[in-house]
Amino acid sequence: MSSLTIIGNWKMNTTPSTARILAAEIRDRLRTDGETDTLVVLCPPAIALESVSGALNGSGIAVGVQNIYPSTSGAFTGEVSPQMARELAEFVIVGHSERRELFGESDEFVGRKVAAASEAGLRPILCVGESLDIRRSGHAERFVSDQLLEGVSRLDNASGLIVAYEPVWAIGTGESATPEITQMMLATLRHALVSRFGEQAASVPHLYGGSVNADNIRDLVRQPDIDGALIGGASLSAESFAAIVKNAAEICA
Ligand code: 13P
Repeated sequence: MSSLTIIGNWKMNTTPSTARILAAEIRDRLRTDGETDTLVVLCPPAIALESVSGALNGSGIAVGVQNIYPSTSGAFTGEVSPQMARELAEFVIVGHSERRELFGESDEFVGRKVAAASEAGLRPILCVGESLDIRRSGHAERFVSDQLLEGVSRLDNASGLIVAYEPVWAIGTGESATPEITQMMLATLRHALVSRFGEQAASVPHLYGGSVNADNIRDLVRQPDIDGALIGGASLSAESFAAIVKNAAEICA
């Protein structure tokens, strides 16, 4: 099987108790389907990390957080440090467009988070993606490459990194980017990463995110540079999330 990574980003959905139930349902469906060779990661809200970790214990499904603050500890009210997250999670989503837009996170701040995550032993899932205006202007490739290179600017190597291309216009809209566009964008990003870190970066998983469902996942993972997906809405249903994992794994088998 070629390597496949499927990540669920639950965003600000579920409570600690409903998150436990959803995680257990996903665990049971994937166990039944026998898709444990695929790297599957669930990213619940931070407050549900403990209950989700408990439900997934021994399942082979990993846990990620949706955010961290790039400092070890201190007077940062409301924030979670990478070291705190690392006790319960292996991954962290960084640079999601919702955080860039709603919370004003700059490329520089995203770069600090990526470095802080790596130092703490958390694997960063670095998200990049252009708006519709940027796509129409014809500068999407340059824009996302710059986001990526800023995001990794404090790293010495690409070890542990995951890259996710999430065009803003495809997130939560029901309108996924085409496999062809996605392939081109992820090939561009992989090339930029290899230029920065050398050949070892060629094996960094490159994912697509934006209105992925159990149908469109097939044609996406058929593309050579699409190593999996970062799923929002469809990860909130155990049935649809498990179907995405199953359908993707069939193509990559
Ligand atoms: P949707 O799958 O709901 O479009 O969200 C994608 C996303 O933002 C994942 O991080």
